[in-house]
Parts: sequence; structure tokens; C-alpha cells
Amino acid sequence: MAQLGTDKEIAKAFLEAGNVVGIPTETVYGLAGNALNPDAVLTIFRVKNRPAFDPLIVHTDSFDKLNQFVTDVPDQARQLAEAFWPGPLTLLLPKRALIPDLVTAGLSTVAVRIPNHPLTLDLLRSLDFPLAAPSANPFGYISPTTAQHVADQLGDQVPYILDGGPAGIGIESTIIGFENKVATVFRLGGMALDQIERIIGPVSVQTHSTSNPKAPGMLSSHYAPRKPLILLPLGASPQPNERAGALVFREPFGGIDGKHQRTLSPTGDLNEAAKNLFAHLRALDALPIDIIYAEPLPNEGLGWAMNDRLRRASVQ
Ligand code: TXA
Ligand code: MG
Repeated sequence: MAQLGTDKEIAKAFLEAGNVVGIPTETVYGLAGNALNPDAVLTIFRVKNRPAFDPLIVHTDSFDKLNQFVTDVPDQARQLAEAFWPGPLTLLLPKRALIPDLVTAGLSTVAVRIPNHPLTLDLLRSLDFPLAAPSANPFGYISPTTAQHVADQLGDQVPYILDGGPAGIGIESTIIGFENKVATVFRLGGMALDQIERIIGPVSVQTHSTSNPKAPGMLSSHYAPRKPLILLPLGASPQPNERAGALVFREPFGGIDGKHQRTLSPTGDLNEAAKNLFAHLRALDALPIDIIYAEPLPNEGLGWAMNDRLRRASVQ
């Protein structure tokens, strides 16, 4: 079983030996390995049971290091990085040959970000290689926001999980690319669109594709609990049902047992809701119920990204 701890040196030793380690970030926990070591990268894919066509995000701690992995940082990318790194934003940039094709699933761009978590930044600074890290969940399941979530699902395959407490943002990074000088968001996430647009102006959003293997995080039926999840229309409430549970924004529904409901934010704070989203879905998934109803969030701030995850989770 995985050891949980806060010792960066232990994590470092495992990573230097080519092993994978669970790492905290402000978005979700990652399953990290040496991005420059194809064997370590293969282990990530194996442990997650992830298809090889789904590329990984490379994590680093500085601009200087970034320049070793990419051939160009377009102006818009630089502006966003200066505004938001370290933070929940991933940039797609043209890769150098140093980054193995396995990491990018053969694509010419590599996804990179500087995560905002003190333990992981400290770890990255001490390593002489970047970390490839997808979310540390089995492929298709809900992303982990605590070290215990990682241990519960991947603990028998990961020697060490660096415990940095519950993720402060709770939803994966926003992914943005710059092909043909057009800034395009491919995954809604922890950096809200309006914040991005405040820096670089209007961006195009392409997160609806269901068949594009370029960004499988865009696939429907992703981020899903094992129980069927029904995303309700705005304003609707479910029929009374003893065997149902509910994920609600501010207050529980009548007609559903209170013990089977989880409230995302009683005060209606979308940042608090995002922080709770995946942990609450996991908790509901473990209850003796047959179905989970989810209330949609207001379409503002992180509400867009949360609705996106709920929509994908609801496709069975
Ligand atoms: O917040 C996050 O981004 C977390 C933490 C651990 O950093 N990581 C994460 O990784 O969510 P993952 O592997 O679960 O999702 C990465 C997404 C995938 O949907 C993948 O398709 C997309 O990034 N991606 C990676 N490289 C890409 C590329 N070159 N072009 C387009 N999409 C890419
Ligand atoms: Mg993931």
C-alpha cells in the first residue's frame, strides 16, 4: 500500500528512480513521473489504465525551465502565464524533441503548467526534470482532491503519495491553445473564462467535441461516478425517491433523504462549490442509493467548468 506523507525527499527519491508518486496541486492530485523518462511515463499510463492516445500535462516550476521544453511561447501565452502562473491554467505550446512523443501522444504541442502548491513547487524546484502528471484517478473516474482519494483507488500501485491537504480549487486546470494565433480553450477548468478574457480579450471555446482524441478530457462519459447521474434542468427537482441521492448547490431537495444529499455551498459561493464538487460526488457514489441527481450550477465563474464536468459525468 502507498505511504502517505509530507516528505518531499521521499517523493524525490522515488521519482529519480523512475517510479510514480501522487502529488498535490491546487486543482486536483496528480499521478507524477519523470516526463523525460519514457518508462516512467509508461508506468503512469499503466497505473491509470489510460489509453495511449490521451496526452499528459507537463508540470514545471519556472519560465527558464519551460524554455527547455517548448520552441515558442506566443505573446498571448506569455501574458497569461505572467498573469496566472503558478495557477490552474495549462498552455498548449510547440514541443521540443526533449519531450518524449509518448507524453504528447504524438502531437506536436505539449501541455504545460506551473501548479500552485507549495509542496509540489518545492519538489519541482529540487528535480532536474519536469513531471508528467495526469489527475491521479483511474481513467474515466472522478478526479481526486485529497491524498486519501488517491490512496483509495491507486494505493496498491503507487509507493508514495505526497499529502498536501485538500485541493484549494478542486477542479482541473483550464486548457488553452494558440494554433494559428487564435486562443482556443479546449477544457473549461479552475481558471474562469472571464479572467482569461480580461488579459487577452475574447477567446474561442471548443470543448464540445466528443470524438476528438486530441483532448480526451473533452470526451463525454468522463469524470464519472459509478452510479448513474442525472443532471437536472435548471429549476427542476427530482421525484420523491428513497433510493436516490442528490448533489445540490445551496440547499437540499424535498423528497430525497437528507442523508443522501450533499450541498456544494450553502452560501452560494461557486469557489467553495468547486472545492467540494469531486469529494461530494465520491461520497454520493459510496452511499446505498441507485441514482444520483445533480442540480446545475449558475453559469458564471467556475460554474461553467462544474456544469461541464456534471454533463460529462451524466452520460452513461
Ligand atoms: O489540473 C490539472 O490539469 C491536473 C493536475 C494534476 O495538474 N491534471 C489533469 O491531467 O487534469 P489529465 O491528464 O487528467 O488531463 C489532461 C488533459 C487531457 O484531457 C488531455 O487530453 C489534454 O489535457 N492534453 C494534454 N496534452 C494535450 C495536447 N498537446 N493537446 C491537447 N490536449 C492535451
Ligand atoms: Mg483527468
